[in-house]
Order: sequence, then structure tokens, then C-alpha cells
Amino acid sequence: MNDGDGTLAAEARGRQFGPLGTALVIIPTYNEAENIKTIVGRVRSAVPEAHVLVADDNSPDGTGKLADELAAEDDQVHVLHRKGKEGLGAAYLAGFRWGLERDFGVLVEMDADGSHQPEELPRLLTALKGADLVLGSRWVPGGRVVNWPKSREFISRGGSLYSRLALDLPLRDITGGYRAFRRETLQGLGLDEVASQGYCFQVDLARRAVKAGYHVVEVPITFVERELGDSKMSRDILIEALWRVTAWGVGDRMAKVKGRGKTS
Ligand code: GDD
Ligand code: MN
Repeated sequence: MNDGDGTLAAEARGRQFGPLGTALVIIPTYNEAENIKTIVGRVRSAVPEAHVLVADDNSPDGTGKLADELAAEDDQVHVLHRKGKEGLGAAYLAGFRWGLERDFGVLVEMDADGSHQPEELPRLLTALKGADLVLGSRWVPGGRVVNWPKSREFISRGGSLYSRLALDLPLRDITGGYRAFRRETLQGLGLDEVASQGYCFQVDLARRAVKAGYHVVEVPITFVERELGDSKMSRDILIEALWRVTAWGVGDRMAKVKGRGKTS
């Protein structure tokens, strides 16, 4: 895959990428009442032409109501109310569907807690002019994390390394959640078949994009750990990621072996 990466990059250089169109920044929320106003305000100032969609899973702390107040004051802020906590993957799938039904050319993933700095979004969008998908990356040169406990950094780096090796992906930050997709890229990923619920949703989409031959570019970001509210990362989310990535890796290898059997 590593030399495949070079080939893809070369092909992308010769390729024409269309204009980007309007961006929709999708922010999934579950109990982010302390963060929602700040993050929406930061997105609106950093990229004034973009729209925001808050995808709230009926947060008990009233995040959805606060988002409604923001939307009432601003035509470029929208809210998708979901019935209950169904995981990050499901919230993004619903958000993507909402954006694809409308006229958005770019769909952005961003956490609500300030870890993904909206002020870095213009850099991601600039890179998207010559790519199908841009990943904000903590683990490429120039990327970093601020205030993350070593234990969490270990899990994240380990998760990316395991996914990279198991799935043969030429990427450094495979689990990250700060991304910009062209609408055509999302349309080509087979979103209807995505079953990932938790954070492995991110690995799932990265893997689908590489497999489909899209030009995926990693741009360094500074990930700042949240100051307010709590992470929703849990043991169940980690376990889901581990078994799904392992199952995909085994499936890919079996498919390769079968393919070889046919030709020899
Ligand atoms: N709607 C909805 N439903 N939103 C959710 C859910 C859910 O079930 N679970 C989490 N979120 C939202 C949070 O409210 C937040 O806006 C965002 O998803 C990220 O959740 P965090 O709980 O802050 O994640 P993290 O900081 O532990 O994890 C970060 O690292 C992961 C691993 O690299 C994020 O960047 C993740 O995107 C990333 O996969
Ligand atoms: Mn977070």
C-alpha cells in the first residue's frame, strides 16, 4: 500500500478537482451544554460562509435546547434532534444525510468540546481543494496534542498503529475526528452499509476512502483536550473498535488469499 500511496498522490496531481462549494460543519453532541455556544461561535467567526449542524442525541443537560436558541438567531446554524444516545457514528450518518439532501459541497466533522480548533479549518479546506478527503492529524509532523494524559495518547497512537497495520492503510491518524469530505467522496463510501456506532466509525470511513481509491491527505492539527464537560470514550467504544478493526483486517487478508488462489 505504501507504493500505492505514491501512485495515488501522482494520480491526484494530474487530476482536476472541482470547486468546493459551501461547507457544513457537523458537530455531534451529547451533554455539551458548557461548550456548545463557544464552539458554534468560533466556527461562525473562523469560517463565516460555512453553515453549522448540531446533531444532538437528546442530551439530558439541555444541549439541544441551547442549540435551538443559537439556530433561532442565525440562519446558518441548524439543529438535528435525535431521539437518544445512539453513538457518534449514527449521529454523523444522520448529519451527513441531512447535508447531502441539501446543497452543501463539503461536509466537516468536528467535536463540540474545543479539541478541534475551528481556527484551523481554513487550512483543512485549502488542502481539500486538491484532495477528496482531508484528515486533521495529530500524528504527522507538525501535529500535536495539548493536555492529553499519557494514557489517552497511548490509546490513540496505539489505535492508529494497530489500524494502520491490520488494515494496511498509509495513514498516521486513523481515529481522529476532525475531517473535511467533498460531498462526492461521502457519496462514494457506501454510507448505507456503515454499521460502526462508536469512535471506530472514524476508522471505518478512512478505510472505505482509501479502498475506494480516493486521494486522502493528512494535515497537521493541534488537538486541545477539553476543559469543560466529560469525554464519552468508554470501554465499550474501545472494545467495538478493537473487534471491528480486527474483523476487517482478517476479512481483507482472506479476500487477498482467495484472490491469489484463483490466479495461480
Ligand atoms: N450525538 C452524539 N451521540 N454525539 C456524541 C456521542 C453520541 O453518542 N458520543 C460522543 N459524542 C460527541 C461529543 O459530545 C463530542 O462533541 C464528540 O462527539 C467527541 O466526543 P468526546 O467524548 O469529546 O471524544 P474524545 O475527546 O474522548 O475523543 C476524541 O478522540 C477520538 C479518538 O481519536 C475525538 O476526537 C473523537 O472524534 C476521536 O475518535
Ligand atoms: Mn473530546
